[in-house]
Amino acid sequence: MTTFNAVAEAIHIVAALRAAERAGVLAALAVAPGPVEDVAARAGTDPRSTRLLLEALDAIGVVAAEPGRFRLAVPGADQIGGLLATADRLDETVRTGLPPVDVRTADGAGRLYPGAVAALSAAQRDIADRVADVLGPGVRDVLDVAAGGGVYGIAVARRTPESRVTALDLPEVLPTTRAAVDVAGVAGRFSFWGTDVLTVGEAPAPRFDVAVVANLCHLFDRVTCADLLRRVASLLRPGGRVAVVDVLPAAAGDIAARRAVALYALGLAGRTSAGGVHELGDYRTWLAGAGFEEPDVVPLGGSVPLSLVLARVAATDRTPAAV
Ligand SMILES: C[S@@+](CC[C@H](N)C(=O)[O-])C[C@H]1O[C@@H](n2cnc3c(N)ncnc32)[C@H](O)[C@@H]1O
Repeated sequence: MTTFNAVAEAIHIVAALRAAERAGVLAALAVAPGPVEDVAARAGTDPRSTRLLLEALDAIGVVAAEPGRFRLAVPGADQIGGLLATADRLDETVRTGLPPVDVRTADGAGRLYPGAVAALSAAQRDIADRVADVLGPGVRDVLDVAAGGGVYGIAVARRTPESRVTALDLPEVLPTTRAAVDVAGVAGRFSFWGTDVLTVGEAPAPRFDVAVVANLCHLFDRVTCADLLRRVASLLRPGGRVAVVDVLPAAAGDIAARRAVALYALGLAGRTSAGGVHELGDYRTWLAGAGFEEPDVVPLGGSVPLSLVLARVAATDRTPAAV
């Protein structure tokens, strides 16, 4: 595809999503799957244009066309208005350096994420399964830090029947986490911890074997990330592991990954004034400072390539106390 064709296609994808969200077509599908006429009647839209829109959304995988009806293929896709709104206002961010909603604060995250995390989770199921595989069997007490739509904790719970998962997130987001855990049928193995991870102190229960920190560090600056990982270390048992999942800078020769990561980093600027795509060397420094051993790094793939940075805290209890 030429660059211009790729740009035209990208514009059409965003336009289709924006139209579907603003015209209420995604909301109408979230109520129930149905034929075009029912969806259009529910949304109050023109049936012919609605059919074209639904066929385009089917082609990009947001909606699924089934015999006689359309259904949402991405759970939570009807809630993506907040993410689209930050993208719509990227020009303001470029002018001022400030995102319209700054998720590095608990207030900003509490406003943006309740609507966004279900769709973000749906996009990461395969990656989460892979992380659960790497963590392996025998994992018992798991802390899913900033669990969002719960995809990582749910993957571990499914893979390891004896595991118990504590999903930590802001109180505003936890109802979405709970709903996803219920749908996954693993509610009996979950507890929920509504708190701000940047100020968290003692764990409410025995310390954890594993803490998953997925797609969180990129919201924050380096000093905050170092502090965050110290806090996480203090929640682990001696010998426990942290599993950081995040985007790392792409290798210089990998043109596709560089493009994906550059666009992702630009999108991030529209949500956080201080976060970004951090270097692997930064993660190593923060982990060492928090009392972890040298990490293993496992590429996880994905359209914006993610990596697992897996590190064990010292086996004797030398972890720094939470600050
Ligand atoms: C990009 S989402 C990632 C969710 C999930 N870990 C995943 O990978 O799909 C970021 C999550 O961090 C949570 N979060 C942001 N700031 C937080 C804070 N200060 N304390 C607790 N959770 C926070 C958000 O509510 C959101 O669920």
